[in-house]
Amino acid sequence: MQTVSPTSTLLGDRSPAEFLDTYWQKKPLVVRDALPDFDAPLSPEELAGLACEDGVESRLILEEGGAHPWELRHGPFDPAAFQALPETHWTLLVQEVDRLLPEVGALLDRFRFLPDWRLDDVMVSYAPTHGTVGPHIDNYDVFLIQGAGHRRWQIGTEPVENETIVPDLDVRILADFEAEAEFVLGPGDLLYLPPRVAHYGVSTDDACMTYSVGFRAPRHQDLVANFLQTALERIDPDARYGDPDRAPVEHPGALDETTRATVRALLRDLVRDDADIDRWFGTFITTPDRGREAVPPETPISASALTDMVRDGRGLQRGPVSRLAFIEHTDGSATLFANGEALSLPPEQAPVARLVAGREQIPADDLRPHLHTDAIVDRLTALVNDGLLEPAAH
Ligand code: SIN
Ligand code: CO
Repeated sequence: MQTVSPTSTLLGDRSPAEFLDTYWQKKPLVVRDALPDFDAPLSPEELAGLACEDGVESRLILEEGGAHPWELRHGPFDPAAFQALPETHWTLLVQEVDRLLPEVGALLDRFRFLPDWRLDDVMVSYAPTHGTVGPHIDNYDVFLIQGAGHRRWQIGTEPVENETIVPDLDVRILADFEAEAEFVLGPGDLLYLPPRVAHYGVSTDDACMTYSVGFRAPRHQDLVANFLQTALERIDPDARYGDPDRAPVEHPGALDETTRATVRALLRDLVRDDADIDRWFGTFITTPDRGREAVPPETPISASALTDMVRDGRGLQRGPVSRLAFIEHTDGSATLFANGEALSLPPEQAPVARLVAGREQIPADDLRPHLHTDAIVDRLTALVNDGLLEPAAH
């Protein structure tokens, strides 16, 4: 099964456990040569090409040379827009490049010491000399990998509680940024930033490409609101307060113990069942953002065609709109959460959960031992036909 490569240099000479203990969500870390073989899979021209595609989220930020300082433009862009840009002082940013290019998606496999659901996307930026998005704060953890060229970073060292933002700009720029550390990162270098640590990265050449592996952290308000909405939908609309076992009250104006205990029990019952909460969380956290849905293949695959494909050495990969996570149960069964659906896998099918979730590619070698179990092949076939998995591109 999947393991974190012990030879990975992503965290320098730190183990994932050491990194998590000392840095994760606590303080920044620079790792020189974290990805010595990272061969930036995208040229600036290819990134610009992606930013011209429909359905791809992209932005241009022009500190100078735009309609006004710090102009923000949203894609998709016309190719001519790139011809008209100034020589310097701008940045192009494209979100979810991991979903657009498998070579970039493969980057996520370096982060498998963290739960897959926490990973958001890989954003790729290109900036000519002096290009920057300005000094700012993000609410999420981010690993910034220098893919090509160089960027000078100035960063704070502690998370900031309350920031002051320059008013009336298109972008959120810190009014009172003070650098506490400064360094230049080159190809293969990495900067990890916990949430809310101020940072200011400026390109120092015309080749600067930065790959930001960003994380998700749902707001407590959103978690609780969604949970309560789900709980609400399960309450019988005709059910009402009742007190068939009450004794006479000691004072008619008092909110007596029977009344209070009945109401407390109603509310506590909403969160009494751990399995129920876990199931809600699995569906909540695997629901794709922005109302997206998996797209089923034009021609469904049959179980026998899938078997032949795997026998021939072709594996599967995660579909472009696919969020998978699982919970294993003590009786050997598992629940596979797939884009907001909870799929119950009986013990015979339960291996599917580990096979498909938490990775981009499912090699044929991992699938082959399961081809003799019809229930597993059927489940994999259904996942392909629902667009959650697809035949591997290579
Ligand atoms: C960039 O790639 O230009 C922005 C990254 C960041 O500062 O979060
Ligand atoms: Co940032």
